[in-house]
Amino acid sequence: MKIGIIGAGNIGALLATKLGAAGHDVAIANSRGPETIDPGILTEGVRAVEAADAAAGAEVVIVSVPFARIPDVAGLLSQIPENVPLIDTGNYYPGRDGRHDAVDAGQVESVWVAQTIGRPLVKAWNSIGAPSLADKGTEPGAQGRIALPVAADRDEDRRAAMDLVEQTGFDAVDAGRLAESWRQQPGAPVYCTDLTRAEVVEGLARADRGRVPKRRDLAWAAVVERTDDFTTMPDFDWALRLNRVLYR
Ligand SMILES: NC(=O)c1ccc[n+]([C@@H]2O[C@H](COP(=O)([O-])OP(=O)(O)OC[C@H]3O[C@@H](n4cnc5c(N)ncnc54)[C@H](OP(=O)(O)O)[C@@H]3O)[C@@H](O)[C@H]2O)c1
Repeated sequence: MKIGIIGAGNIGALLATKLGAAGHDVAIANSRGPETIDPGILTEGVRAVEAADAAAGAEVVIVSVPFARIPDVAGLLSQIPENVPLIDTGNYYPGRDGRHDAVDAGQVESVWVAQTIGRPLVKAWNSIGAPSLADKGTEPGAQGRIALPVAADRDEDRRAAMDLVEQTGFDAVDAGRLAESWRQQPGAPVYCTDLTRAEVVEGLARADRGRVPKRRDLAWAAVVERTDDFTTMPDFDWALRLNRVLYR
């Protein structure tokens, strides 16, 4: 399958190498040009392209840019043919990602993204930290396999994304429509807590909409206090323990 990825950072790069290794033809782009993409991620099946070319002819497109950068890529993404699934890995943290009045007032993050782009969207891979995405994928049926929720309004989009999630080493859980994807946002029980399928199903059902942003902000305050800035990734095992205590 031809897959376009816009964003070659922590998550975009990992998805490129995993999907290339799974046999897909992956074109990946950042904002600064193909020559600036880490050659280490240009493994089998993966090539670096200009952002304007990443979605050309793609059967699936993945956008993995910071939430604040979505308006910069909206024009590009709005040109993708309507029938092509577009998967968003994004999350919003107030402060780190600027301020978004609608989302701060409770609009679902990916609903805001879909409206900004003006086309249907899938939310997937947003709920796993880069270190777990890199190292904790396993074969289908493996004991304790980590599961990831996938939300979308069109069933065919959700199915396509779930299939790709499985190919990256994780059980895919049908999380329903995009409007319900607040259940997998930062602060939710299933967010970066490395749960199994049964635990994700239970966590999605148990999520409390009023508490999700409060718990996100508590965890984020602890991360910033520890790292002293908005960009350094904290020690991931510590972050995983923090999330499990606060979110579940
Ligand atoms: N890091 C995690 O553990 C994690 C886990 C799950 C979900 N997420 C979410 O996934 C998204 C990406 O996270 P990340 O950690 O991978 O981010 P990142 O490491 O900061 O990488 C962001 C990428 O987006 C590219 N980009 C920014 N503006 C662009 C534009 N206008 N056109 C094309 N490319 C553009 C950047 O390219 P340049 O450097 O050239 O600007 C960079 O390659 C975020 O919403 C994040 O919250 C992150």
